Amino acid sequence: MQANRRKFLQQSSAALLGTVVLPSFSTDIQAAPLAKVEGNITPSDETYWSMVRQQFPLNKDLAYLNNGTMGPSPYPVIEAVKKGMMEGDVNGSYGGWEATQAKLAKFVGADENEIALTHNVTDGINIVCWGLPLKKGDEVIMTTHEHVGNAFPWLNRQMVHGIVIKVFTPASTAEETLERVKALYTKKTRAVAVPHIPCTQGQVLPAKEICTWAKENGLFAFIDGAHGPGMLLVDLHEMGCDAYASCSHKWMLGPKGTGFLYVKKSFQQTLQTYFVGGGSDNGKWNMASTPIATGAYADSAHRYYGGTQASGLYKGVDAAIDFIETIGMANIHERIMYLSSYAQAELLKFGDKVELITPTEVRSRAGVNGFRIKGVNFNDFYKTCADNKVRIRVVQENSLNSLRMSTHIYNTKEEIDRLMALIQKA
Ligand SMILES: Cc1ncc(COP(=O)(O)O)c(C=O)c1O
Repeated sequence: MQANRRKFLQQSSAALLGTVVLPSFSTDIQAAPLAKVEGNITPSDETYWSMVRQQFPLNKDLAYLNNGTMGPSPYPVIEAVKKGMMEGDVNGSYGGWEATQAKLAKFVGADENEIALTHNVTDGINIVCWGLPLKKGDEVIMTTHEHVGNAFPWLNRQMVHGIVIKVFTPASTAEETLERVKALYTKKTRAVAVPHIPCTQGQVLPAKEICTWAKENGLFAFIDGAHGPGMLLVDLHEMGCDAYASCSHKWMLGPKGTGFLYVKKSFQQTLQTYFVGGGSDNGKWNMASTPIATGAYADSAHRYYGGTQASGLYKGVDAAIDFIETIGMANIHERIMYLSSYAQAELLKFGDKVELITPTEVRSRAGVNGFRIKGVNFNDFYKTCADNKVRIRVVQENSLNSLRMSTHIYNTKEEIDRLMALIQKA
C-alpha cells in the first residue's frame, strides 16, 4: 500500500512538474513588500488579500490547495535564504543559527532554551520517541489518523522494544474525542503521542485538554505539531505538552527542510538525547585529560541537535516569522478560517454525493477539509485535478482512501470554486 502510494505520488508530482510548474517558474520579485498591519484585517477584504497573493511566486495558473504538504514561500523568505547563503559564501561567515531558536520560541509561546532546531517534523518525533524512558509492555496512546512520520517511529519502538500502541479514532466533537483518549487508559499507559492536527482530514484535536489529562495521570504528553504553527495561534506553555515537534515548511511558509522541536525545560532531564555533537555539549569534555572528561549536555534543548546547520535556511525561517508578523498571526488565522469555512460550506452543498470527513464543529477544524466523492475513485479524481491544474492530496494512509484540500492566505475563493466545479463534473 505505502509503496503504491509512493509510486503514485512520484508519478503525479512528475506529471505536475512537467505540465504545470516549470513553464512559468520565476522567483524574480514582482511586488512591493507588504507594510506592517496594525490591528485587524477583514478576512473577506479581497483587495488586501490579493496584495498578499502578489508576494508569492507560486504559479498563478495553478490552484494550489495542498498547503498541508508544503507551504510555498513568499519572496521575502526566498530572498532571505539567498542572501543568507551569499553571506556565508562571500564572507566565509559561519554559525548564527541559534538566533532563530529565540524567534521560534517567541512565535510558539516557549522559551529560547526549550527549542531545538531540526530538519523536519519527523526528526523531532524521532528525538522524542527514542528519548522517552519506555520499556516492553508500556502503552502509548495514538490515533488511527497518523502520518507515517508519527506512526513509524513509534511502530519502530514497538518492533525494537516491545512497547504497545493503543489507538482511537478522533470523534466529530472535541469533547467526545477527549473521552475516547481517556477510555484507552490502563495502568500500563505511559504516554500520549497524538497529532495536534492529523494530516488526513485536518481535525483540530483538543490538545490542551489531552495534555492536561495526560499530566494529571502522570503520562508523557507529546504532540505532533506539523500543522499547528502558522495555521493556529499556538502557545505551547498554555497547551502544557512536554514536547511538540513542528516545521517551518508547511503553514509558516518557510524554507523546506527546516523544523524545530519544543522540549519543556523541566522535561529535558527526562528526555534522553542520543544524537550529540558540537553545540549539544557544555564545552567541558576533554579527551586528553586524565581521566577523560566527558563534559555534559547543554543546559537547554540544544542538547538535542549538534553540528553545522544551514544558516541561510534559518535566515529564511526568521523572514517567514517576520512575514507572518507583518500581516499578523490573528489576521492570518481568520483568513484561513474564512476560506476553509467557505470550502466546507461548498462541499456540504453536494449533499450525500460528497462525504465530508472533517468535523463541522468550529473548534475542531481550521485550514483543511477532507472528503470522499461517492462512486468516484479518489486516485482518479486526484489525476483529474492534476490535469486541470488543481493540486490537492490523496489520503491513502490508514485505509482512509479519501481526498484532502488545504487552503492558506495565498488562496482565493475562485480557486476553491475550480475544485468544486471538478467535483460537480465528477
Ligand atoms: C501530521 C504530520 N506529522 C508529521 C509529518 C511529517 O513532516 P515532515 O515531512 O516535516 O517530517 C507530516 C507531514 O505532512 C504530517 O502531516
